[in-house]
Amino acid sequence: MKIAIVGTGYVGLVSGTCFAEMGVDVTCVDIDINKIENLTKGFIPIYEPGLEDLVLRNVKAERLHFTTKLTEVLDSVQMVFSAVGTPSDEDGSADLKYVLEVARTIGQNMKEYVLLVTKSTVPVGTALLIRQTIQKELDKRKVSIDFDVASNPEFLKEGDAIKDFMSPDRVVVGVESEKAKELITKLYRAFLLNNFRVIFMDILSAEMTKYAANAMLATRISFMNDIANLCELVGADVNMVRKGIGSNQRIGGKFLYAGCGYGGSCFPKDVKAFKSHFRTKLL
Ligand SMILES: NC(=O)c1ccc[n+]([C@@H]2O[C@H](COP(=O)([O-])OP(=O)(O)OC[C@H]3O[C@@H](n4cnc5c(N)ncnc54)[C@H](O)[C@@H]3O)[C@@H](O)[C@H]2O)c1
Repeated sequence: MKIAIVGTGYVGLVSGTCFAEMGVDVTCVDIDINKIENLTKGFIPIYEPGLEDLVLRNVKAERLHFTTKLTEVLDSVQMVFSAVGTPSDEDGSADLKYVLEVARTIGQNMKEYVLLVTKSTVPVGTALLIRQTIQKELDKRKVSIDFDVASNPEFLKEGDAIKDFMSPDRVVVGVESEKAKELITKLYRAFLLNNFRVIFMDILSAEMTKYAANAMLATRISFMNDIANLCELVGADVNMVRKGIGSNQRIGGKFLYAGCGYGGSCFPKDVKAFKSHFRTKLL
């Protein structure tokens, strides 16, 4: 099976390399020429335990390739994953310019069926926008070509990314056609054989699942910081309270540490985007 992954950042490089390790023929695409030149020479732009060995092994085995041009590989793949960035816009919403640019490029150049799977974290309803963007380009070309869109949000943690990808708690997949489901089932065959949970659902629910998961984890951290403030007021020890509530199986002990709040490349951005999306929807 041959696939392309557009966006060779953290998520694209890790996913592409892990898919290659599972025996898939993967081409990683990025518009950043330096990044692709370095990767071709074996220089890995990020530090992630185990990644360098995996990249070098799969390049040597000719299962992992790098290019700056999606158009070079589009004709030879049925499935394209999009893992481009979705940075915060000025109002906190997710900027979809990179996501929609990938859709435009596909609509302008595809000759046969393509399934475009979004791995980037995107607001609920983005798959519909992607579908409309591709269709608009096909209409401009006055051609009718079948295609599908799907959502496969990524849950990996930086620092543990290879393990998270290769032994996932769950893989969430949103699809709207049997053909898309069949292709993704084929891709994740090794995961299914190992009894990892691949949860198929509709696309809107898959898009929502990613934001809901990050919002839940961020809420637990913020909640615990509020509890820590209350503990200080009354002279209680928040660490004992954490142990006390974390041992309740319905609550569990993770993401309950009081501290300086949440940070990193995803939580602040995704919480802002989630809020902004529903603020405009609910007003
Ligand atoms: N980093 C994480 O831990 C993590 C975890 C889960 C989900 N995500 C989500 O995954 C997405 C990607 O995150 P990341 O951290 O890998 O981003 P990143 O910024 O590291 O990488 C994005 C890459 O996309 C490339 N790109 C942009 N437009 C392109 C185009 N038209 N064609 C080809 N390449 C293009 C950029 O040059 C860049 O290398 C985001 O939506 C993010 O929220 C990130």
